[in-house]
Amino acid sequence: MNLLAIETSCDECSAAVLQDGSLKSIVISSQLIHTEYGGVVPELASRAHMELIVPVVEEALIKSSVDKDNIEAVAVTYGPGLAGSLIVGLSFAKAFAAARGIPVIGINHMEGHLYSTFLEDDKPEFPFVALIVSGGHTMLIHVREPYSHELVGQTRDDAAGEAFDKVAKLLGLGYPGGPIIDKLAKEGNARAFSFPKAFLSRSSTPENGETFEFSFSGLKTSVLYLLRDLKYNADVRDEKLVRDICASFQRAVVDVLVEKAARAAERFSVRSISVAGGVAANRELRETIQARASSIGAKAHFPRPLYCTDNAAMIGMAAHFKILKYGMVSDLSLKPVPNLPLIAEPA
Ligand code: KG4
Ligand code: ZN
Repeated sequence: MNLLAIETSCDECSAAVLQDGSLKSIVISSQLIHTEYGGVVPELASRAHMELIVPVVEEALIKSSVDKDNIEAVAVTYGPGLAGSLIVGLSFAKAFAAARGIPVIGINHMEGHLYSTFLEDDKPEFPFVALIVSGGHTMLIHVREPYSHELVGQTRDDAAGEAFDKVAKLLGLGYPGGPIIDKLAKEGNARAFSFPKAFLSRSSTPENGETFEFSFSGLKTSVLYLLRDLKYNADVRDEKLVRDICASFQRAVVDVLVEKAARAAERFSVRSISVAGGVAANRELRETIQARASSIGAKAHFPRPLYCTDNAAMIGMAAHFKILKYGMVSDLSLKPVPNLPLIAEPA
């Protein structure tokens, strides 16, 4: 089955072609314009998607060597995301499908991240625990079988990626903050500063109500207070200090994510932990979670960094699993749902 997948929920315009669940081609066009503004500007994002969607899909089709008349279904993200950006992908997908009389399948963006690890040869084994860490979400999910999953915890305030972006902004490092902090942290001393790690108390056990919730806003505020105390000036910055703050901050985030994911794996007796979303590209997170997983007889799985951030290949992979579970359910009345929750399936 030849499937065209489209992702336009935020600032990446992406198209992919999959054949029976295996990736034939992928094109991702990142909108660099937002770096000038220190964050995604919704109006600019939808306008850019408008310009990019046709050439991006055409390139994905050419690279796949699949003729567009042989595409049998279109999968498209319908939420969560920016309404104006989702509309561009949805409208294109509906028009493409309606013109050919083929089904259009709505996919939840977070389920795209959830199944992104299956784009790799080294796949998680069902049942597994998934840690999804992106700019907008931090979620722990128990995946029992294909397309049967339950949210077991999420962030109460900032997402992990959002914390990276906000701390990078406080330090005057640019946007997006994750990759910059990742790089600087490598040469910093992670013990230089002690930042809070929310909800990590060892005394909280499954019996007395261990929580799989996260919170990162206190950590960000703690960096803010430190910078105030140090009278930090981003224009005349002390590079060693910046590296140490990055390393200490990153260690605090990673410790919380890894420990929570490992405890969830133990609680649900699973042997695979899948880590996905933009923050899953983080070097320290990948190394630390792999080591912690093996300490409990489990294994961590990740998509390659290209598939950690937003892309259409993961939307196609989620569609592949969704079709296996529910059959081909087409919906030409699909609308964008900016706050679509994870459990709202089937669409
Ligand atoms: O999944 P994604 O591309 O978009 C959302 O759906 O949000 O994630 C983007 C987030 C940004 O917050 C970015 O700073 C973060 O992922 N990120 C990283 C790294 N690469 C991207 N965070 C930490 N380390 C990285 N290497
Ligand atoms: Zn995402």
